[in-house]
This record gives sequence, C-alpha cells and structure tokens, in this order.
Amino acid sequence: MTEHGKTPVTVLGLGAMGTALVEALLAAGHPVTAWNRTASRAEVVAAKGASVASTIDEALAANEIVIACLLDYDSVHEVLDPAAAGLRGRLFVNLTNGTPGQAREMSAWADGLGAEYLDGGIMAVPPMIGSPAAFIFYSGSGTVFGRARTALDTFGGTNYLGADPGLAPLHDIALLSGMYGHFIGVIQAFALVGSAGVKAKDFAPLLRGWMDAMSGFTERAAEQLDDGDYVTDVVSNLAMQAAAFPNLAKAAEEQGVSAELLTPLQPLMDRRVAAGHGDEDLIGVIELLKK
Ligand SMILES: NC(=O)c1ccc[n+]([C@@H]2O[C@H](COP(=O)([O-])OP(=O)(O)OC[C@H]3O[C@@H](n4cnc5c(N)ncnc54)[C@H](OP(=O)(O)O)[C@@H]3O)[C@@H](O)[C@H]2O)c1
Repeated sequence: MTEHGKTPVTVLGLGAMGTALVEALLAAGHPVTAWNRTASRAEVVAAKGASVASTIDEALAANEIVIACLLDYDSVHEVLDPAAAGLRGRLFVNLTNGTPGQAREMSAWADGLGAEYLDGGIMAVPPMIGSPAAFIFYSGSGTVFGRARTALDTFGGTNYLGADPGLAPLHDIALLSGMYGHFIGVIQAFALVGSAGVKAKDFAPLLRGWMDAMSGFTERAAEQLDDGDYVTDVVSNLAMQAAAFPNLAKAAEEQGVSAELLTPLQPLMDRRVAAGHGDEDLIGVIELLKK
C-alpha cells in the first residue's frame, strides 16, 4: 500500500481495454506499473502518471497484484511463460477473454508457480470502464479477490462467483451468447425490411419496442426451467411456433435475403415436436442442447 492506502498494481497489456483499466486505476489514485509488447502504446498511460516497465520481468517484480488484459490466453502464455518465475508470490488477476477450461488450466499453471489466481470476465466496452455501467465477473481465489478488491472496484461493479476459476468466463460467455442471439435477430430484421427499401432508422423504433416487449421471455423461461415444467399456462405452444417458423425463411427467400442466421432453430423445434412435446413452450428445446 502507498501512504494514501491505495494498492499499487501492475497491468500487462495496453490495448483498448488494458489502457482503460490503467486509466481507471490512476484516476482512483492507485500507483500503476504498465507493460505492453509494443512499447509505444504505453505513452498514453505514461502521460497520465503510470510507470512503464521496459521488460516483463520488471513489470512482475514491481507489484504483488498483477492484472493481465491481453488478446487471448495464448498471448498470456506467450508473455508470461518466459518470465514464469516472476509470478511466485503474486496475486494474478487475468481479465483476458477465454473459456472456462482455459481459466482452469491457467489457474493450475499459476498455482504450480506459487501464484494465486483470479479470473475475470469484463462485461463492458473500454469507455464504460470506471463507470457504474461496467461490471466484471470474478472467480477463483477469494484471497486475491479480497486483497485486490479496492483496485478492482475502480473498474466498475464486481460480481464474485466462487472458487472455480471457470465460473467467470462461463457467465461471461453465457451473456455474450445472449447478446449475439439478440444481434442475430436485429441483423436479420434489418435485412428483411431493407430488402423492400425501408429505412433502417424508420424501422429501428418498431424493432426496439418489439424486442423490449419480448424481453419477458427470460424471466418466464427461468421459472419454467427451475420448475421443470414447460407446459403449464403455455399461450404460444411449440407445435404452433414450429408450423409458423418456416415462414421466416420463406419470406427471406422471397425477398432475396439469406435466412442462414435463423434456420438452425427449425430442426430443433421439429425434433422436439416430433418427440411429443408440441404442447410445450419454446424453452423446451433446451433439452436438445444437452450433450
Ligand atoms: N475492447 C472491448 O470491447 C472488450 C470488452 C470486453 C472484454 N475485452 C477483452 O479484453 C482483452 C483485451 O482486449 P482489447 O480491446 O484491449 O484488445 P486490443 O486493443 O486488440 O489489444 C490487444 C492487447 O493484447 C496484446 N497482444 C496481442 N497478442 C499478443 C502477443 N502474442 N504477445 C503479447 N501481447 C499481445 C496487444 O499488444 P500489442 O499492443 O503489442 O499488439 C495489446 O496489448 C481481450 O481478451 C478482449 O476479449 C475487450
């Protein structure tokens, strides 16, 4: 700790996100030692008060808390493998996007080197970092979470999910899956109306309103999943939906638009109906996703 009680932190990676993390730490008064493969990218944070380490060994030696925010897990290994001895005794927070399996592997690797490991999944874009709109999932070492908490709180809201390091990336990827599903629908809808010359800006309020009206699907599906009951009080049964769904592809075809973003749902609906579950809600297709 400094005399002002702000924990010093090392940050590895000064891309768009790493730079935003450093800026949030500096704004809150945390001394920061920063390192980046391409040294010139450190100039922005150096001008704001960060110390710049010229080697990865120097960056690891500078502080007990080490935060990595690099492109992917391969790049984390590429950076840290040659300097692995420097991780001994470090509280290592990895905010690089990855999978649950990669996080568990990284945790075991760090453990073998005498470091404690916390994984994180950032649910924000760089301009949101440092504002209440940003939040980050964490999982892994509760000790690291506790000791680094003041620094981590500068990024936005925190949500510690437990000791399994895979939990943070699992929640991160689940939210991203929901996001891309939403984006798929929006892209397809704009493509359809665009094929008839409708201006996207005119259609956007209708689409936004409709998506908002349909957002209750999430809570309703959660209740059905937790109750294990997909049939009570169903108002839009799967057999009806499976019968109407081909029209989405047919309409696209008529308009000269590809339906390839949407069509994978049709065989799942058809299989579930064929198996005798036509009276269920759509959420019942989740059973077919379990491998
Ligand atoms: N930006 C976002 O909206 C956002 C949102 C949530 C999560 N994230 C996650 O945050 C992480 C960083 O994203 P970003 O937006 O900062 O990406 P970025 O701007 O593309 O920066 C990538 C960073 O990784 C470094 N890097 C890449 N390959 C490397 C290698 N082989 N060895 C050493 N360093 C390497 C780059 O160093 P150089 O400067 O030397 O190339 C740079 O520091 C990613 O995992 C991303 O998925 C990003």
